[in-house]
Amino acid sequence: MSETNPGEWVLVAELPELARRKRKQVSIGGTPIALFLIDGRVYALHDVCVHKQRSLSKGTVLHGRIICPGHQWSFDPATGEAADQTECQPTYDVRVDDGKIYVNPRPGAGRALPGAASHPARAAG
Ligand code: FES
Repeated sequence: MSETNPGEWVLVAELPELARRKRKQVSIGGTPIALFLIDGRVYALHDVCVHKQRSLSKGTVLHGRIICPGHQWSFDPATGEAADQTECQPTYDVRVDDGKIYVNPRPGAGRALPGAASHPARAAG
């Protein structure tokens, strides 16, 4: 069995599975990740809400935003920013290839995992 290297694309789900329910929890190396299909695009966010640790994959999508089931914070699926809050949910890069969904297990630039040491921002370009 090979280990998951950070920065490597990981196959997490098939697109038709996500198309059925629009949201799904997957796991990469023990990290829970919420996948959402919104307006034909796939987004990946850390599944554990930055507010009080509820599961975003159990939330709903309203007007293109992810609503946490805990206290109804509204997250931008692309940036993880919460409306009217300073907290930001970590997001992950997603690639869809031949009906398969791949996630880069490194959180997006400048984002920190809840309770984890912050990652240095990636240089753009
Ligand atoms: S736990 Fe997500 S909004 Fe409170």
